Amino acid sequence: MEYVRLENGDRLPKVGFGTWDVRGRAGVRVLTDALAVGYRLLDTAHMYANEREVGEALRASGLARDEVFVTTKLDRPFAGRREARKGIEHSLSELKVDQLDLMLIHEPYAQARDMWRTLVEAREQGLARHIGVSNFQGRFLTDFLAWCDAEGLPQPELDQIECHAYWTQGKTRAELARRGIPVQAWAPFTEGRRRIFAEPTLVEVGASCGKTAAQVALRYLLQLGVGVVPKSAHRQRMEENLDVFGFELSADDMARIATLDGGHSLFGWY
Ligand SMILES: NC(=O)c1ccc[n+]([C@@H]2O[C@H](COP(=O)([O-])OP(=O)(O)OC[C@H]3O[C@@H](n4cnc5c(N)ncnc54)[C@H](OP(=O)(O)O)[C@@H]3O)[C@@H](O)[C@H]2O)c1
Repeated sequence: MEYVRLENGDRLPKVGFGTWDVRGRAGVRVLTDALAVGYRLLDTAHMYANEREVGEALRASGLARDEVFVTTKLDRPFAGRREARKGIEHSLSELKVDQLDLMLIHEPYAQARDMWRTLVEAREQGLARHIGVSNFQGRFLTDFLAWCDAEGLPQPELDQIECHAYWTQGKTRAELARRGIPVQAWAPFTEGRRRIFAEPTLVEVGASCGKTAAQVALRYLLQLGVGVVPKSAHRQRMEENLDVFGFELSADDMARIATLDGGHSLFGWY
């Protein structure tokens, strides 16, 4: 595994496990498999309604609490100054942990600035080791960062955004890079919106280095400097998606894959 070094020296795995739609008893089994095959970053959210399952798998794994990095996210019911505090307490209680490793504001809510003040306090109080945002991009991101500066508030420690071979968000990534804010990709396989595993360019590049299209898709993002949180319910695919460090895409391969970028979201949420 490779890591991003966060400001306080903590290590954030560059490949984590996405947990959208991973719920119930079957979900706990999937999460248990993910930890068993070596994932050390679990990406959950209040919105996924699975923080309990994540906490259960964590405890069942026998791993020490500080061996697994747990990210969760505050969504609309907690959009507000006091509401955000309730959201943090809710996540701590669902996960049954004393501290969150990373708490993100899930989306660019109108109340994001109030929520951010609460997150900053929560970090100071030790309820969250790290704080960040998700889906902050374009104008909203620029204005939010300018506001943090003007208020003398710390900037987010990470932005988790839609990012895959079909839209790598060049402008937003450039802005985040200028500020030294790590980027993490959600839906690195497009959540099924494109037939990425049969994408000829990815299949051909993969064939030339003995890798699958999935591995090339993840490796491409890693080489752009973006962390990834792919999800799979299948153990063999979990292993495949973790095995993305022993090879390097050439500049030609990177340029070929870059031609897939359509320059727009496949989700159109923001
Ligand atoms: N912040 C946000 O707003 C936001 C939004 C969306 C997602 N997320 C996070 O990002 C994570 C990842 O995104 P996602 O779960 O939406 O979608 P994804 O990771 O892009 O794609 C998951 C799909 O790919 C399949 N898959 C995974 N590995 C594969 C492989 N090696 N070969 C073939 N198929 C494979 C999975 O099928 P199987 O499960 O059947 O293997 C599943 O259908 C989420 O789980 C969540 O944690 C965050």
